[in-house]
Parts: sequence; C-alpha cells; structure tokens
Amino acid sequence: MKFELTQEQHLFREMVRDFAAKEVAPLAQRVDEEGIFPNRTIMKMGELGLMGVAIPADYGGAGGDNVCYAIAVEEIARACASTSVIMSVNNSLVADPLYKFGTEAQKQKYLSPLASGKMLGAFALSEPSAGSDAAGQQTTARRDGDAFVLNGTKNFITNAREADIVLVFATVDRHLRSKGVCAFIVEKGTPGFTITKVEKKLGIKGTSCCQLLFEHCRVPADNLVGEVGKGFKIAMATLDSGRIGIAAQAVGIAQAALDISLSYATERVAFDKPIASFQAIQWMIADIAHQTEAARLLTYRAAWLKDRGVRHTKESAMAKLFASETASRAATKALQIHGGYGYIYDFPAQRLFRDARVTEIYEGTSEIQRLVIAQHLLLS
Ligand code: CAA
Repeated sequence: MKFELTQEQHLFREMVRDFAAKEVAPLAQRVDEEGIFPNRTIMKMGELGLMGVAIPADYGGAGGDNVCYAIAVEEIARACASTSVIMSVNNSLVADPLYKFGTEAQKQKYLSPLASGKMLGAFALSEPSAGSDAAGQQTTARRDGDAFVLNGTKNFITNAREADIVLVFATVDRHLRSKGVCAFIVEKGTPGFTITKVEKKLGIKGTSCCQLLFEHCRVPADNLVGEVGKGFKIAMATLDSGRIGIAAQAVGIAQAALDISLSYATERVAFDKPIASFQAIQWMIADIAHQTEAARLLTYRAAWLKDRGVRHTKESAMAKLFASETASRAATKALQIHGGYGYIYDFPAQRLFRDARVTEIYEGTSEIQRLVIAQHLLLS
C-alpha cells in the first residue's frame, strides 16, 4: 500500500494550492459577505482545467485522475468553500455523468464547453417533496413527437442562476418510482423553464441555490441522457462521485480550520503566554488535525477506487459522512479557540463554521450516508 501522491498528483496540488492562495483566498471574505458569485475566478479555473479535472483533454478537461480532482476541490475549499462547490457541481454532478452516459453529440455540444469552463452546469434532482427520497420524483416528462415536455418544480439547485445547462431529472410515470426517472439536458432560456426563487442561505453565500419551475417545457429528445427509465441509476452513480467532491470540500474547510487555529493560538497571548501553550487549546488542535487527516484518507481512497473503475458507493458515503461531520467539528473548535473574535465577521472562523454545516446536508444528508453504508453492509 502506498500513501504517496504520484508526481503528477503532487505537481497538480502545488499548482492548485498556489492558485488558491493568490487568486481565491484574497476574495473569500468579500464573496461571503456580499454574496458575490466569483465569476472571474471561475473563468480562470476553467483555463487551468479545474472545471473538468478528470475529463479527458479530448473533451476539454485536464485529463487528470479523480485523486487529482479531490485534491483540487480540497485546495480551493481551503481558500473559499463557495468557489469549491461551484467547481464540484460542474465537475462531478454535470461533466462526469455526461462523460459516462452522454452521446457523442451531447459530449461535443455540452461536455467540452463545461469541462473547459466556457459553460457552467447545475444538477436538478431535489424537489419540494423529493429530497432524500430521490425516487419520489414529481416532475413529469411526457413524450411528444421529437421532444419531452417537462412539468414540475426543483428545489435547492446549486449554480442554477449562473448555469448555461441544467441536468434535470423527471419521471415518465410517478408510479414507477426509480424505474420511471429520466435525465435531460435543459438549456438556459428554454421556453417554459424559469428560476422562481434564489434562496438566502446560512453559508456558501457566493453560490446560488435556486428553485426552478418547468411549465410545458419542451426539451429535444436528443437531450435525453441515457435511456428512458435509467435516470435514477444515473443520478445515484453521479452522487457516488459527487460525494467525493463534497468530502473533499469538507476536508478543505477542516484544513482551513486547522490553519487558522494554529496561527491564532501561537499569536494570541493570555495569562502572559501564547494560548497554544495551554493543554485545553492543544487538545482542540490535535482533534482538528487527526480528524482532518482521517477524513482526507477516506476521501482519497474513494477517489482512488473510482480511478480503478471499482464501485465506490459505500466508500464515497463513508468519506462524505466523516469529512462533513469533521468539518463541522473542526470549524466549531476553531471558532472556540478564537474566543470572542471567532464570533465576529472580521475573522474567518465564523465563515468556516457556516460553510461547513451544509456539507452535512447537500448531496445526501448524513442520515442518508449512514443508510447507504448500512444497506451495503447488510444487504450485499
Ligand atoms: N449506483 C447505481 N445504481 C444504484 C445506486 C448507485 N449508487 N444506488 C441505487 N442504485 C440502483 C439500485 O441497484 C436499484 O436498482 P434495481 O431497481 O435494478 O434493483 C435502484 O437504483 C433503486 O435503488 P434503491 O431501491 O436502493 O433506491 P431507494 O429509493 O431506496 O433510494 C437512496 C436510495 C440511497 C435513499 C437514494 O434515494 C438517495 O441517495 N437519496 C439521497 C438523494 C440525494 O443525495 N440528494 C441530493 C441532491 S443533489 C444536491 O444536493 C444538489 C446540489 O445542487 C449540490
């Protein structure tokens, strides 16, 4: 067993770390406080191949592996969690399924611009009454000649306000549950497709989280991804990868919590000593550090399995569960180490605390990850 990164992965990490320190971190506070979508940063990330890290160069991507992808999300999240989830959704929830399940024409038309950062994607599975129960899709798709007509509402869709295309899930028959679901590429501006609400959120404020409405929205049949009735499996396989992205995001947030805790604890003096000399602080730092390292190893392992073409449903769920709960604990401890300063907006601890929380919710709550893990242990 080797715990070393390959030379390519190592160089990739250095490149992303350098970019994140110079271009992403300086904007993080403003992105959060003003709720700004970091458009210019995302364009630069496209130029560096970060919007399609594991997509082959033939389709506009960086041609890296999934460990490189996890490393990249982690490094960007360490600087700015908002920026990292914009990247993660585009890479693993949109580009990845188009690469795996799309037709050649769909790849030429949509995947290449997505992976090279010329287009942005969003993934619309969740609905007002189908969140954790993804097979309970209420949005319908009715075949009509050379098109499908979509009707329904989608909820909490990250990137949707800025996205050029949305991968939308809808059912041809609600009674069929998972077996009726289909996946469609819907372009921005398609008549009948509107964004009806942009949510106000606790964290990741640089991203949009939208409600989408489809009213007699005609989508060309050529934009069906995979076959009729195979959309649920496409969604689940996509989330197996997406959860690696969110795990990596959580590792990056936890690492940032460690970074700021180390620097604050060594600078801040109380009782005539740096607070780092007190055991109470040392134990909090040790807990953040060892849990972050464990989360990183679980995340890289899931990515490594994906690179080997091995089913990684359970391992992705474990990585996402542990990393997201680690990020929340780490950010809570970092805020505590900062005392009163942790609670005010001039210091980043409160941003990490708010940004970490959603990693326990989106792309499957911690409860769903536990369900997936238990089902794999008990039923397979
Ligand atoms: N890969 C491939 N196939 C899979 C699969 C996977 N990971 N998981 C399930 N399947 C297949 C099953 O094998 C089964 O196939 P057969 O019918 O041929 O036997 C079929 O799919 C149905 O599976 P289940 O019976 O297990 O499905 P279920 O209804 O019990 O649901 C669930 C399982 C795990 C709870 C699932 O609904 C789930 O993951 N829910 C959470 C959804 C989620 O994560 N939503 C987040 C939305 S994305 C987001 O947050 C957007 C954003 O913008 C960031």
